[in-house]
Parts: sequence; C-alpha cells; structure tokens
Amino acid sequence: MLNFNFQNPTKINFGPGEIQTISKEIPVDARVLVVYGGGSIKGNGVYQQVIDALKEHTYFEFSGIEPNPTYDTLMKAQTIIKAEKIDYLLAVGGGSVVDGAKFIAAAALFEGDDPWDILAKQQAFTQALPIGAVLTLPATGSESNGNSVVTRDGNKLPFSSPLVRPLFAVLDPSVTFSLSDRQIGNGVVDAFIHTIEQYLTYSVNGKVQDRFSEGLLQTLIEEGPKALAPATKDDLDVRANIMWSATMALNGLIGAGVPQDWSTHMIGHELTGAFGIDHARTLSIVLPAVMKVRREQKREKLLQYATRVWQITEGDDNARIDQAIRLTEEFFQTMQVPTRLSHVDLGSADIDSLVARLEQHGMTALGENSDITLAISREILTQAL
Ligand code: NZQ
Ligand code: ZN
Repeated sequence: MLNFNFQNPTKINFGPGEIQTISKEIPVDARVLVVYGGGSIKGNGVYQQVIDALKEHTYFEFSGIEPNPTYDTLMKAQTIIKAEKIDYLLAVGGGSVVDGAKFIAAAALFEGDDPWDILAKQQAFTQALPIGAVLTLPATGSESNGNSVVTRDGNKLPFSSPLVRPLFAVLDPSVTFSLSDRQIGNGVVDAFIHTIEQYLTYSVNGKVQDRFSEGLLQTLIEEGPKALAPATKDDLDVRANIMWSATMALNGLIGAGVPQDWSTHMIGHELTGAFGIDHARTLSIVLPAVMKVRREQKREKLLQYATRVWQITEGDDNARIDQAIRLTEEFFQTMQVPTRLSHVDLGSADIDSLVARLEQHGMTALGENSDITLAISREILTQAL
C-alpha cells in the first residue's frame, strides 16, 4: 500500500427530512448566499425546504449556474457577495452547482490578479468562503470532496483544494425522484467510473480499498438499473444506495493509498469542452477504450475485476478480460449512455482537435504511471470510434 494522509471533515446528514438540519449547520449570524442552477429545485420542493430552514438566517440568492459551470456565470456572483458582505455559501443542486460554489468561494477571497489562474495556472490560494451543500443529483462526489471543474471558452479545467470542501452536505435520496432518466443514468455511470479510476490500475495489495471499490461497483451495477425500471423507480432504498455509493466513490476514502488513473476523465473533459457532451457520457465512451488499449498494463486488475465484480470464472485470462469489458459496456448501455464516439455523431475527423486540446491543457502524461502520452490518447480515441 502507498503512504497516504486521509481526512474528510464533511459532515453528512443523510435521509428524507434532513434538509431542515441546515438551520443548525449554518451559523445563525452568517450572511448566506444560496446558489443554485436552472430551477429544478423549485419544481421538486427542495427550494421551499431550504427557504423554510433558513427563516432565521439572513440570506440572498444567486441562480443560473449551468451544467458544466462557466467562469463567466460564476464570476457574476462576486457582485452580490461584495455588495451584501456574504460570508457563507449554500450550494443547492448537482455537481455543477456544488463545483460552481467552490470556485465562487475561492474567487471571493482570491488575492492574485485573476481567479482564472486558480485553474489555468493551478495557482494556490489560502482562503475561501465556507460552503454547505444540499445535493440533488448523486454522481460527482463534489458534496464531500475538494474538487471543482470550471469551463471558460471551451476549456474545461479542474482544481482541487481542501479549503473548498463543503463543511456539511445534506443527502436526501427522496429529492432524486424528480431526476430524468438521462440524469439518473449519467449519475450512476459517473460514480461507477470514479470508482474504476481509483481501482483499475496495478495492485499495491490495498485490500481494504479494493474491496470497498468492488462493493461500490457491485452496488451501482445492482441498483442503477432499478432506478430506471418502472417497477422500482420509486424505491427510496434504491435511491439511497445510489446516493451513498456516489458520495463514497469520490470522498477520498477508496483512493487513499492506491495508484489512480484519471485518464478517462481528462480525455472526457476535452469531449465536453469541445462538443458539450454530458460529463458521464464522455466517460462511458472513453473508459471501454482505455480498458482495451491499456489491457496489458492493467491485466492483473482487469482479471480481479472480472472475477470479483462480474463473477466470471470460466475461460482463460484473455477471455475473462474480454467478457468483463463487454459486460461493462452492456451495463453502460442498460444505463442508457453511449459507448462509442459514433453514438454522439463524432468520427475520426474529430480526433486531431481532441488531441490538440489535450496538448494545450498539458494532458500529455496521463494514467497511473504517467505514461499515457498524446499518441496513446489518440489510440484510445481511435479505439472509441
Ligand atoms: O440546473 P438545475 O435546474 O438544477 O438542473 C440540473 C441540471 O440541468 C438537473 N438536476 C439536478 N438535480 C435535479 C435535477 N433535475 C431534477 N431533479 C433533481 N433532483 O440535472 C442537470 C445536470 O446537473 P449537473 O449538476 O450538471 O450534473 P452532475 O451532478 O452530473 O454534475 C456534473 C458536473 O460535475 C463535474 C462535471 O465535470 C460536470 O461539470 N464533476 C465534478 C467532480 C468533482 N467535483 O469531484 C468530479 C466529476 O468527475 C465531474 O468532473
Ligand atoms: Zn466524473
């Protein structure tokens, strides 16, 4: 096992009715900015629950954070933050809103020239406004991690800091009943691939991490399709298991002490930046190709994945790996996400520009061994055609 430091201070308040706990989590003398997206929270009762819980607080609102939040939109929040002396952010929404709140929180107290440098130059910062989160879409893990992804002019870039990790997160699985099938599928697949990116590397004998990861993968494989099936769509336990899996997949626990491979995400970000494809749908296209192209480097873990996650015991090593990759693709298809570039109307003519973007963003040494060069990323994209 590799050395690690692990600390996850985000308090989780889980279950129906827990939104009301924000009244106690946020200091009563705070000047709160409630940030949200395009308005889904007004249709499903979440907004009303938040407002009811904040009746003793002084709060303001900032809405309109779009999926794949943009720098331009997020910077607009700075006006109200300054004018109203905001000192606490409450993010109410999916990963885009929580990620957006993180950038707003860092930009508000940024001492450098341009907050975009936090992403473009990975410039460190020393303070950020405190954040709480009410999560409405289980997928990203943003509610209890320090990561954020922001887009500017088609450049989709990540940053990470413990300073923007939410202090608390409310996870009420009943608020996910209003999600569309598209967002359910996206969320389950995103969480699945977060787990894979911290698992499917090479073995360091991290038994706890491996078995936690395998448990999450199996839970998502079992419960994900149920959230789409008419007979089980309204089952709260199904939603609860998906929601907790998604948080656990990217709260730092399973990735502590093991190698990680974020190549699928980094290549996927270019597909979103260039073509606006939903985050999870870029991943479901790229991951099967990564498994195929990196098959030799990942052989040992692919076999473990085949045996422990998919219970494949028949056939020689190569046949078992083939079957595990095939079952992964079939699972994605069951979750109604694309698995090929052609499924989103992209073809070989688009690969040059995607590789150029990877180069422009410094994504030239990806993977658990930093050996996924631009040439190998090209091979992965070609495999994904
Ligand atoms: O904007 P509103 O009206 O709220 O609608 C949203 C949005 O249109 C809607 N929605 C959310 N909760 C809902 C709901 N609709 C009905 N009922 C509900 N309960 O869903 C749409 C998509 O929301 P979004 O927040 O964009 O989705 P997601 O949670 O998948 O977040 C994706 C973003 O997170 C980033 C992605 O790159 C992308 O920008 N990621 C963040 C990570 C992190 N912070 O660790 C890691 C991930 O790998 C990912 O990169
Ligand atoms: Zn993701």
